[in-house]
Amino acid sequence: ESTIKVALLGAGTVGSQVAKALTEDSEELSRRIGAVPELIGIAVRSLDAERDYQADPGLYTTDAETLIDGADVVIELTGGMEPARTRILRALEQGKHVVSGNKALLAAHGAELHRAAAENGAQLSYEAAVAGAIPILRPLRDSLAGDRVTRVLGIMNGTTNFMLDAMDSTGAQFDDALTEAQNLGYAEADPTADVDGLDAAAKAAIVASLAFHSEFTIDDVHCQGIRDITADDVAAAAEDGYVIKLLSVCELDGDGVNIRVNPTLIPRSHPLASVRDAYNAVFVESRDAGELMFYGPGAGGAPTASAVLGDFVSLARRSVLGGPGVPDSSYAGLKATSLSNVVSRY
Ligand code: HSE
Repeated sequence: ESTIKVALLGAGTVGSQVAKALTEDSEELSRRIGAVPELIGIAVRSLDAERDYQADPGLYTTDAETLIDGADVVIELTGGMEPARTRILRALEQGKHVVSGNKALLAAHGAELHRAAAENGAQLSYEAAVAGAIPILRPLRDSLAGDRVTRVLGIMNGTTNFMLDAMDSTGAQFDDALTEAQNLGYAEADPTADVDGLDAAAKAAIVASLAFHSEFTIDDVHCQGIRDITADDVAAAAEDGYVIKLLSVCELDGDGVNIRVNPTLIPRSHPLASVRDAYNAVFVESRDAGELMFYGPGAGGAPTASAVLGDFVSLARRSVLGGPGVPDSSYAGLKATSLSNVVSRY
């Protein structure tokens, strides 16, 4: 059976989960892909840092370039601009497929990376960059490719939603809520990106680019974060029947597209008001489909790793081996179970 050599760049909250899955679920992933994924190395900054998951110690290396050169697929989960950009370009220029969760990079240099992928016949997938586990980019890129999207809006940052929710439901103070979000692995390495709205703005730029088939960067996004929102503001909103949410909106506006991130008063009866914890929710409005809603965990190691692994399995089985991309969907051989003595169960 053939193998797919995987280089993993980064072993943080998400990278650790991906390393774990590639190690422990290797057999199942092999069946889904039709080839064996072999984790050939994990590029890290420091060899002796503490990790959420400890892979085979021999896999860790500080030499990302050699690792990339020996791989078939590169999974980039380091975050930030450099060296992530140069490393992804290095992989794409060798025709290697890349999976990334790096929203800041994609929101700044997405066009350059897409061009490098296209010129070299490589695939670039980054479902994990927006809204954690929620599949939102592929629906925009593929499922709605024949429709006309008019507006995408929603909650695209888990950390600030967690904080605003804690301030609303338990009266928590801003700083305590942020510390808790960091401890739960929701926040960026530098949480000012969450608090100041830059993480949501990067995601909005990525979403708008796919929804409106245009090149937008984070510089196109009007952005205001939640730094100035106090527990008192949240309580005052609650008295008037509102919750405060950090909303991202991308909408057709005359001949252009308006992209913005702002704290917004949402009536308690609105579905977005019931998005709790670090969950995200995204509404898509389009000419033909009407209104679609996507909802789920928007941050955290395992949920985000789910999106990374989905991209990996999908691109691996589609083209790494030149296969048809249609998996053998019957290998598990499960049978339907029957219900007894109940009409249904939820
Ligand atoms: N810090 C991000 C968030 C992680 O809180 O939404 C997921 O992109």
